[in-house]
Amino acid sequence: MSTSPTAETTTTSEPAATSGPTTADSTLVRAARRQPVPRAPVWFMRQAGRSLPEYRAIREHVPMLESCRTPDLVTEITLQPVRRHGVDAAIFFSDIVVPLQAAGVDLDIVPGTGPVVAEPVRTRADLDRLPELTPEHVPDITRSVQQIVAELGATPLIGFAGAPFTLASYLVEGGPSKNHERTKAMMHGDPALWHDLCARLAQISRTFLRVQIEAGASAVQLFDSWVGHLNRSDYLRHVEPHSRSVLEGVADLGVPRIHFGVGTGELLLQMAQAGADVIGVDYRVSLTDAVERTGGRYAVQGNLDPALLFAPWPALEARVREIVAEGRQAPGHIFNLGHGVLPTTDPEVLTRVVQLVHEASALEA
Ligand code: CP3
Repeated sequence: MSTSPTAETTTTSEPAATSGPTTADSTLVRAARRQPVPRAPVWFMRQAGRSLPEYRAIREHVPMLESCRTPDLVTEITLQPVRRHGVDAAIFFSDIVVPLQAAGVDLDIVPGTGPVVAEPVRTRADLDRLPELTPEHVPDITRSVQQIVAELGATPLIGFAGAPFTLASYLVEGGPSKNHERTKAMMHGDPALWHDLCARLAQISRTFLRVQIEAGASAVQLFDSWVGHLNRSDYLRHVEPHSRSVLEGVADLGVPRIHFGVGTGELLLQMAQAGADVIGVDYRVSLTDAVERTGGRYAVQGNLDPALLFAPWPALEARVREIVAEGRQAPGHIFNLGHGVLPTTDPEVLTRVVQLVHEASALEA
């Protein structure tokens, strides 16, 4: 097994030496840039969260949004899974609705439900009340990111934002939605209002990503979690230009951009071409098919079914090895789940998966 020149060589208490490894040398950033790596990087969507007892303890008396706006809590929660699992990247602890709240939208994150918006956006007058986001709205985000990257050393921090469609769905529906009916009604019934709403949301997401990158995030992920509910033609006409404006709007900052959605097998090429370096793949599409559908030009991220973490170890191990083998055929592979860690997942299984990915991907490197 080869040794990695990345994260684990940097855990000394000495100040960062200018000649030491940096996040640019990390397996995550290298794989995203389609450069060779000694072993596949691995992290998990929702790695910070309810699967960890140390997270449940820290959140016991603090509401979700308050915890997201308190730099010491954000720092501690972001670092918890890195310490515990030895993952190759931290994901910033926040939520896709944090920049909306910071800009002035009255909303809450209700435990067991998700984001709930007090006054949904359904008319031109509603949109006129949706403010732009400026960096001055989120000084706490800058501080949180700065603290985290100081602690992480050469391990990269992934910043993130919600994509315009997924954010619009929460704002228009007023909360989580199964069918996104009001959202689609606006998209098709009042395309001018829809485009203006998405342009405003793209401004908010772009600003939120820029703040995180300027404070030290080494990569970003744009979450378009619910865009798999659209067909390709509606995606291209009503959504892609806005997601593109977010992704292209951070291109000058030079960090890799990951673009992810659920059930997006039919949209992978279009989502990659919207300005991504890495295409996130959920568990419904094999990495082999994802590479083929995106012309072999993009790194891929994924794609273990989170439910498989509940299967007996031999079945889980076989599936992890298959994904690692498929990933080796891609121009770059970041191992992840096909969607977020489920709250009842045994965290020890996650740690074991990290070790297995490292071991299996190093063997034939
Ligand atoms: O570890 C990480 O991935 C970083 C943290 C993170 C959270 N939300 C924390 C969180 C990230 C990247 C998100 C993004 C997010 N939020 C998305 C996109 C990712 C995805 O899952 O597709 C979406 C759709 C949301 C909206 C949202 N926020 C939902 C659906 C929920 C879950 C509601 C519930 O209680 O089941 C939230 C709340 C939320 N965001 C939690 C966490 C850890 C749970 C809050 C808690 O601990 O009580």
